Amino acid sequence: MGFRKDFAFGAATAAFQIEGAWDEDGRSRCVWDDYSHTPGKVFGNHNGDTACDHYHRWKEDVALMAQYGIPNYRFSVAWPRVIPGGKGAVNEKGMDFYSRLVDELLAKGITPWMTLFHWDYPSALEDLGGWRNPDSVKWFEDYTDIVTRRLGDRVKKYITFNEPQCFLGLGYAVGAMAPGVQLPLEATVPMCHRVLLSHGAAADVIRRNVRGAEVGYAPCGGPSIPASDDPADVEAARKAYFDIADVSRYIMSVSWWSDPAVLGVYPEKALKQLEKYLPRGWEEDMPRIARPLDFYCQNIYYGSRVRRADNERGYETLEPKVGQTKTACQWMTEPESLYWGPRFLYERYRVPFVISENGMSCHDAVSLDGKVHDPNREDYMHRYLLQFRRAAEDGVDARGYFAWSLLDNFEWNSGYNERFGLVYVDYATQRRIPKDSLAWYSRVIRTNGEDL
Ligand code: NOJ
Repeated sequence: MGFRKDFAFGAATAAFQIEGAWDEDGRSRCVWDDYSHTPGKVFGNHNGDTACDHYHRWKEDVALMAQYGIPNYRFSVAWPRVIPGGKGAVNEKGMDFYSRLVDELLAKGITPWMTLFHWDYPSALEDLGGWRNPDSVKWFEDYTDIVTRRLGDRVKKYITFNEPQCFLGLGYAVGAMAPGVQLPLEATVPMCHRVLLSHGAAADVIRRNVRGAEVGYAPCGGPSIPASDDPADVEAARKAYFDIADVSRYIMSVSWWSDPAVLGVYPEKALKQLEKYLPRGWEEDMPRIARPLDFYCQNIYYGSRVRRADNERGYETLEPKVGQTKTACQWMTEPESLYWGPRFLYERYRVPFVISENGMSCHDAVSLDGKVHDPNREDYMHRYLLQFRRAAEDGVDARGYFAWSLLDNFEWNSGYNERFGLVYVDYATQRRIPKDSLAWYSRVIRTNGEDL
């Protein structure tokens, strides 16, 4: 059986992580500029000022994708590049950049998948309170309107938000990512509600402006993997994946972000304790949040093993096995997360499913032969893709898989210290060196995953 004939294999990036040109052609600052320019926040005090210089080298990067037969490219638009004030005047030069990029992709037969928001929130809006401000929904709606009016004749596939768990949860609750603040529940709960409302509003705007639009959403969450085939363990893992056992961690959960967007409800248990913080009249907002989706995405990298237990929750999460394989950034390798994650998510949400990110950081290096050999990455992707194909064969409506990432890039708090790319970037010269895994992935794509 295998993947559908029209299965979308691709590679992904995000604006802040690759573009650089942070103050060029009218771009203004975003929260990640401010955060990374604050000493001590990011590994080695790295920042996105130059990144992969993709703003100037985009043609070369598109040519590489074309050369290796990558048929789909997921990238994001930098809001502060196209609307420097966050709202109001459009920066034509910024908009032109994306317009030329899209033209080039299409000319090379590559389908653009555009993420509207991948964390680079305009500082000008953050100064007005950002997601704390009730107007933030309108700001996002207007931004989406402007982008889709300009590019919607050519871009048909959209992802509204990338990983709200991270930009809101880590950004405003845990305080471990930009802007790096720790707000209490009474502040973060309404902020989440506004992000969800913005997602719904954007979905409507996209459909209004773009003929033939397809709308998606890309949250995250490491799946719970049953510790054995025993149906009791499978049930325990299913429960654990959507459970919000500790309400203080609600913002990092799967169900808090996906149940409202897809099912139109907040998860019951969490709601009981958090309802008091939601804006008055929140119930009437729910139909505006749960707008129809054409595809539902997840970024999945790892998972944890869960088994049934005689405790209040009915399950327990196991420690990683002794000697468990892991990636350079210490994430546990769990290929089955690409089987159980898609399965549990598809069972619950019943929306065509896309893996919007998967991949690994390796200790990549240029060898004496001038090449970058990364057998670990090939093996990782191979194992994960086999599991995703198994999920497709077992009934998940699997529509696509995006490797993270096309290029080594700015890995947020880790700066340039982690390399996730299929293409190696020598930051001193900005030279690109395709890694072995890119050639391998190219062959997988050519056979639609049949000879995995
Ligand atoms: C999630 C994020 O969407 C992406 O920006 C990040 O680089 C990768 N995962 C790897 O951490």
